[in-house]
Amino acid sequence: MQIIIQDTAHEIIETCARSIARLLTEKPACVLGLATGSSPILLYQRLIQMDLDWHLVTTFNLDEYVGLSPDHPQSYHHFMQENLFRHINIKPENINIPNGLTQNILQTCADYEQKIRDVGGIDLQLLGIGTNGHIGFNEPSSSLASRTRIKTLMPQTRQDNARFFNNEADIPHHVITMGIGTIMEARHNLLLALGETKAKAVALAVEGAMTANHPASILQMHPNATFFLDTPAAAQLKNTAYYKWTYANKPDDLLIAAKQQ
Ligand code: GLP
Repeated sequence: MQIIIQDTAHEIIETCARSIARLLTEKPACVLGLATGSSPILLYQRLIQMDLDWHLVTTFNLDEYVGLSPDHPQSYHHFMQENLFRHINIKPENINIPNGLTQNILQTCADYEQKIRDVGGIDLQLLGIGTNGHIGFNEPSSSLASRTRIKTLMPQTRQDNARFFNNEADIPHHVITMGIGTIMEARHNLLLALGETKAKAVALAVEGAMTANHPASILQMHPNATFFLDTPAAAQLKNTAYYKWTYANKPDDLLIAAKQQ
């Protein structure tokens, strides 16, 4: 794993945005896995500012609420449209987000997996992390080999996401999410975590035991996973000095390119 820690959200978002921009430049027809939540909003704003060419890019979002229509203000379709897609030149037919209104969830999930395979897999998957360690909406106890499927949200996750809804009763209980097995097949996983509310979840993911009770810890098994952290999100890590020294001294193409831009 690569652990990159920078003082402010602004700095780490810049570094993260450059990694994504570099992929789009080097591989214009790349396949990106995208995430929702508060953390990616600033990243998407920065990517929009960079004025990149998205016309050959294909995207797959991690998840969607079951029962919300694409134009529902709290749906992830709506979130992506507002925060990224309507500002860039991506082709609508290249955008993939699970259909939360499907009448046949099993088929929808199988089709989503097939479509990812058909385009040759995901080059770079962006992830956030839930306070309970979830990635996508893979809640604790999710199979580490799981594929795209329906999941039931934990009370903690519904509470964390309550700020986006008018009433708690409106927060769906069910979601469709890429599985942990699906996420693990992405060629590069890039996890962005900001703020002290994520510090414990990040520490368990990076330095804790690998367990289905903390899904992000599976990234310890991924050959190419990068954690992008601001200082508050990194606050409970023990080996911070080592990670910082490694980043500052690593003769790694990706990092050097990111720093030089
Ligand atoms: C939701 C999403 C996750 C995301 C998480 C954290 O639960 N399904 O993919 O990682 O939110 O989001 P935030 O950045 O708002 O803390």
